[in-house]
Amino acid sequence: MRPLVIPLPGNETLTERIAASGKHDLGALEVRRFPDGETYVRHRSNLNGRSVSLICTLNDPDPKLMTLILAAAAARALGAVRVGLVAPYLAYMRQDRAFHEGEAISAVHFARVLSREFDWLATIDPHLHRVARLEDIYGVPAAALHAGPLLADWIRAKIDNPVLIGPDAESEQWVSEAARIADAPYAVARKVRLGDKKVSVAIPDISRWGARTPVLVDDVASTGQTLIACVDVLRKRAMRPPVCVVVHPLFAGGAYAQLLAASDRVVSTNTIPHESNLIDVSGMLAHAVSSSSLACST
Ligand code: R5P
Repeated sequence: MRPLVIPLPGNETLTERIAASGKHDLGALEVRRFPDGETYVRHRSNLNGRSVSLICTLNDPDPKLMTLILAAAAARALGAVRVGLVAPYLAYMRQDRAFHEGEAISAVHFARVLSREFDWLATIDPHLHRVARLEDIYGVPAAALHAGPLLADWIRAKIDNPVLIGPDAESEQWVSEAARIADAPYAVARKVRLGDKKVSVAIPDISRWGARTPVLVDDVASTGQTLIACVDVLRKRAMRPPVCVVVHPLFAGGAYAQLLAASDRVVSTNTIPHESNLIDVSGMLAHAVSSSSLACST
């Protein structure tokens, strides 16, 4: 039987694309709230004997978690042989240690909760910082896919003579890869975070590429301040307004409008539904569903 992919609310479009590009069957889940705020979940597909993947991107994760737990537990109770989670954006990766006494190490605790409910996990460019591999905190097989090649393909197809810029040392991994594929030069800035909503960046001298279009490439835009700080530096150097390309468009508060006003354009992947989505990750996720379902059924 073909793997069944089931969207959690808000993930319908991406799940339909995954089903179509991977030739998976599309399942359905009914979710609603009881008047007192508790969650009602009902599977509307026959799961018996099936390999099931729940598709749920995890921006704004707290309201989604109970639905996810109930949907996974119910799938298993209804006879699913394997239950996997495709979380195009994976939350709770930033607090991977206790910086102050008494803090919850939420990356570890969140991973433990999900690992109890799912047999495998697939995500895209998780924010691996001090944790080297997802499997160091997840107790199940966990695939970290890379959107870098998709970003590079988009840049190569749409931007004439780009120069790629990564906003911080961590970005070098995907900026260098994207630059190689897009056959473009790149530079990496130094970033100092001064607070949740305040960063300063130092971009190396890129005046030798002044005739090119600057393209800022980052994995996440959350408050947008990292990219906005880079745009400011380029503006002060009288470079042309950059194109901003991000994997995960979280864009808290008014970040998107602010960034859009300062740059030439803002482009993202559809790991999180957003008006800037122009790069489609469904093919990559369909492949991950196929491989994980096969690996799990042996
Ligand atoms: C940081 O390490 C990440 O790669 C991003 O640069 C960061 O998360 C962006 O955050 P914000 O949009 O809040 O500046």
